[in-house]
Amino acid sequence: MSGSLLVDNIGELVTNGAGEGPLGIRRDAAVLVEAGRVVWVGPSAYAPAADHHVDAGGAAVLPGFVDSHAHLVFAGDRAPEFAARMAGQPYTGGGIRTTVGATRAATDEELRATVRRLRGEALRQGTTTMEIKSGYGLTVADEARSLRIAAETSTETTFLGAHVVPAEYADRPDDYVGLVCGPMLAAAAPYAKWIDVFCERGAFDVDHARAILACGQAAGLGVRLHANQLGPGPGVQLGVELDAASVDHCTHLSDADVAALADTAHSDGSGTRTVATLLPGAEFSTRSPYPDARRLLDVGVTVALATDCNPGSSYTSSMPFCVALAVREMRMTPAEAVWAATAGGARALRRDDIGVLTPGARADLVVLDAPSHLHLAYRPGVPLIRQVIRNGVPQ
Ligand code: NIG
Ligand code: FE
Repeated sequence: MSGSLLVDNIGELVTNGAGEGPLGIRRDAAVLVEAGRVVWVGPSAYAPAADHHVDAGGAAVLPGFVDSHAHLVFAGDRAPEFAARMAGQPYTGGGIRTTVGATRAATDEELRATVRRLRGEALRQGTTTMEIKSGYGLTVADEARSLRIAAETSTETTFLGAHVVPAEYADRPDDYVGLVCGPMLAAAAPYAKWIDVFCERGAFDVDHARAILACGQAAGLGVRLHANQLGPGPGVQLGVELDAASVDHCTHLSDADVAALADTAHSDGSGTRTVATLLPGAEFSTRSPYPDARRLLDVGVTVALATDCNPGSSYTSSMPFCVALAVREMRMTPAEAVWAATAGGARALRRDDIGVLTPGARADLVVLDAPSHLHLAYRPGVPLIRQVIRNGVPQ
């Protein structure tokens, strides 16, 4: 869209910057957008003229959601596995290999169609930035093509060749780690910004995880990891050791894990360098206990919320659903959950141009069909996203 765009008559604007409360709320506000950026925020009554106009009609407007953890490149689904869990089977991660088989057998066009479908679903639910991981290919060629396809849709792409040890390497995991650090990383790195490892009993132990993440860092990738999902373990502290942007899941934390995260606090009081990304869709879908976000928030750890969208442990693309779960089940206030789903996700990706609506930020706005951000948790399951503007362009 060429020319400027004015969104005015905003009853409640969540800026995550200057304003009332932790969300930086401004009332009766307007936002002016030019060339995909926010250039002015102020009272609606004083809004400048613009070439295009969106009347929010007194509704709430917030930054687009930043979903910092999603696995979108896969084929098939695992609905029967979900049904078995709901009948009492535990989640062990063993189904990942089922999806690996289906993904390897799929064509590029089939994988691309799934990514587009899920990205479209998420966009309609207010997600304007979505991280996308590989991790269901687990061969050099299949990881590289997964990331090539992911990179068509997002700049936030993550190499997860160390998701599980594939069946053909089951009795020689060291060889698989060598493959991941060598030819697989070389083939994946041109399309990836981040490297991730599933550090968990049954997946990769701490020594393998450290080795793989260090190789990724040496290749210029940023570190994030799946940690402490299925049980207590060393993942969170490994993430802190390696200056990970984010440790994700954090379902089973010791006091030492929480303290290690708190110790990464920035000196200016702006939160922690390593973010704890909580994924309540996974607890919902695996019928696991939810992490206690309060325990992290109360000692100053920066918390993000993300969907973990994947066919096994969390087949949802809905950030509003995750916000509602976090408030109901994880002791977050609605304001904390909305912040975590927007600015928190941006921190988890080490971005300061998204997740906020302040001058200079990317113009990613969500107009709610509601007068306040509170309704995202108060009205769970209701389609409250009236309009999405991404990069200054109404979708
Ligand atoms: O984040 N934990 C590892 N990976 C995914 C699950 C993948 C799957 O079950 O297919 C997760 O929950
Ligand atoms: Fe995940």
